[in-house]
Amino acid sequence: MPRAKIVSTGSFLPEKVMTNHDLEEIVETSDEWITKRTGIKKRHVASEDQAASDLAVNAINNALEQAGLKAKDLDLILVATVTPDTDFPSTGCWIQKKLKIKNTPAFDISAACSGFIYGLTTARSFIESGLYENIALVGVETLSKITNWDDRSTCVLLGDGAGAVILGPANEDEKSGILSSYLGADGSKGELLIKRAGGSLNPTTQETLDNDMHYLEMQGREVFKQAVRVMKRSSIKALKTAGIEEKDIDLLITHQANIRIINSLGKRLHVPDKNVHVTVDEHANTSSASIPLALDDANRKGKLTRGDNVLLTAFGGGLTWGSVVLRW
Ligand code: ACO
Repeated sequence: MPRAKIVSTGSFLPEKVMTNHDLEEIVETSDEWITKRTGIKKRHVASEDQAASDLAVNAINNALEQAGLKAKDLDLILVATVTPDTDFPSTGCWIQKKLKIKNTPAFDISAACSGFIYGLTTARSFIESGLYENIALVGVETLSKITNWDDRSTCVLLGDGAGAVILGPANEDEKSGILSSYLGADGSKGELLIKRAGGSLNPTTQETLDNDMHYLEMQGREVFKQAVRVMKRSSIKALKTAGIEEKDIDLLITHQANIRIINSLGKRLHVPDKNVHVTVDEHANTSSASIPLALDDANRKGKLTRGDNVLLTAFGGGLTWGSVVLRW
């Protein structure tokens, strides 16, 4: 059975940046509150004519370039997103069109902030089964398009962007590869993080529009309470399966929602601060895109050396959670 490895990384952030000070002009908030409570300083925001697939194509091209591959070499396109271009066609199909390739299968995965971890686990299974070799996995969000810019409890938290990886089979003599995956979900708590309308439960009507039901809603305090505990539990399960001890983690990348959650998890897993990679200050919470954006940031800053033990862990809407342990 071939082991799946991350061959390369890429990312793309829209040009427009909104700082905390910009938000002070829109809602009753302050740079001090946002920084102290979340660690966020700024976020990137897609323009009116930028759809999720536009960000994703740039991130995939960036990763393909690093891998020395062309779009036509891809056997599968996987997309983690909760802000698709359209319900259908899938964002994967939009991306395929914009990559100017034909026949390559493409589909979307919806697991909110855990989407990239769900995607890695899916990609890994396809490679290990021998069905596909070169897979592009992209986590992409345009959360600004479903943000209620009058709601200070959510609008200060979110950002747009795309992070991509190219996965392929590791050579037999190689140490690199995904060592373990652990996924979980609790649908009974789905309403803690929800976009209520636009689906078959609440189709779009004038009433759903008037009642602001097309925006992301989050009960932040409730999500916060569970985030560290659940990510710690899922990390430990994935580490155990991989046969890696907490002290041997060279790089920890958690879902980037809140610096207090990230730091607290690092402490509980006994990972020194220098081994915890943080991008929430620069990108804010980009849901499915947050981990691959942080991974590419770490990779391009030279924080990843082949052979390093890397723990990726996420928790978010669904509720969903998951962890992946890999040897870089
Ligand atoms: N500016 C100023 N004050 C604010 C703001 C703001 N932007 N937002 C809320 N407040 C106020 C509240 O009204 C409240 O005031 P009150 O005490 O008078 O009622 C006070 O600040 C504290 O609010 P809390 O919600 O209790 O603040 P908390 O410390 O919990 O921080 C936060 C809120 C940042 C949302 C935090 O709960 C959090 O990070 N939650 C987890 C987010 C997360 O991990 N999400 C999962 C992934 S997201 C996804 O899947 C798309």
